[in-house]
Amino acid sequence: MTLTEEQRMIQDMARRFAESEVQPLAKEMDERQEFSMDLFRKMAGVGFTGLVIPAEYGGTGTDTVCYSIVVEELSRVCGSTGLTIAAHNSLGSAPIVVAGTEEQKRAYLPGLASGETAGCFGLTEPNAGSDASGTETVAVLKGDTYILNGTKIYVTNGGFARCMVATAVTDPGKGVHGISAFIIENTFAGFSVGSLEKKLGVRGSSTAEIVFEDCEVPRKNLLGREGDGFKLFMKTLDGGRISIGAMALGLAQGAMDASVRFAKERHQFGKPIAEFQAIQEKIANMATGIHAARLMVYDASRLKDANEPFTKESAMCKLFASEMAMGVTRDAIQVHGGYGYTTDYPVERFYRDAKLCEIGEGTSEIQRLVIARHSLKE
Ligand code: CAA
Repeated sequence: MTLTEEQRMIQDMARRFAESEVQPLAKEMDERQEFSMDLFRKMAGVGFTGLVIPAEYGGTGTDTVCYSIVVEELSRVCGSTGLTIAAHNSLGSAPIVVAGTEEQKRAYLPGLASGETAGCFGLTEPNAGSDASGTETVAVLKGDTYILNGTKIYVTNGGFARCMVATAVTDPGKGVHGISAFIIENTFAGFSVGSLEKKLGVRGSSTAEIVFEDCEVPRKNLLGREGDGFKLFMKTLDGGRISIGAMALGLAQGAMDASVRFAKERHQFGKPIAEFQAIQEKIANMATGIHAARLMVYDASRLKDANEPFTKESAMCKLFASEMAMGVTRDAIQVHGGYGYTTDYPVERFYRDAKLCEIGEGTSEIQRLVIARHSLKE
């Protein structure tokens, strides 16, 4: 797919950055199960923390295609880093861009754009996963302060983010129309970081539980109108799902690159294994799946940029790219044989990281539900 000159430049820059700054840390972050704040600052320095934020608030104001390309290139070497930047931008920052008042935008976006403040998103709860309408966190207005009680789980960047957007029920009788969104700082009284998850993959990214215990959120931090929180979060996930598609795409590309390299170097039966049809078939399937996913991710990004409906296309690109990445990373381990099963090669990490893409920001089952509902309505 033809990219504009600006998109090509960002692709080149992101690729060089990923190879020089991220790749050397990826294995260690995975092993230590810890994200590097130094890397976060470096990414801020090249504008990756302000990708979805307009220039007037200190962001780079790039389009969604460029944003997807950056997530893809980071994920090509490290899924954890791709996910961290995706959660900061499309989950932690975008809702404020979309629904914030001018005062909220001026208060929060410059810090998010500069990376001084990392962002995160709280929707999932112990009893509200795929059924996001089952939110149990409550917010009760007392004077000029909302008092929040409840727990959010699986919050990407939750361990270090200073700014969170989260949902809570303000009107219990109204179902999804009684759910509101808030901007919550980690210094507000009653906010605390609970347990940090130990995970199968994306181990270098922070996944935390966030607890609100009589958490005091100023009324001016209500994001959008009371009762509009569920829809705002659904819209946010429409954008976020494109970036998970981009992450899956990057992981698959990284696994394929490693497989091509290995297949040319590894000799068995007196020749490079790349000369065997069994290996060539795997490489051909990888290349085809990756190409299709890239077209879908960029197409969903373009629809978003054109302000056209993209809910179905975003669900489709996430679903397809995630399942494709699982197949490609599995085959990449197979191409590497015994070497692929060890941590000496990156493909086992890509495989573990890819699994997150079939679950985070809506499982594949939820993507199919969204796609089917839209298709049946058309
Ligand atoms: N954009 C705008 N509005 C939307 C919308 C969208 N994409 N999707 C739904 N809505 C609106 C509907 O129009 C409807 O509005 P009205 O009542 O005014 O008609 C309202 O929201 C309710 O919609 P549904 O009846 O479709 O709601 P539902 O209860 O059937 O749920 C769902 C729909 C698609 C299953 C939704 O619950 C969902 O996406 N679930 C998955 C949640 C998810 O992805 N969670 C992962 C979060 S990531 C995280 O927590 C942590 C992290 O850091 C990664």
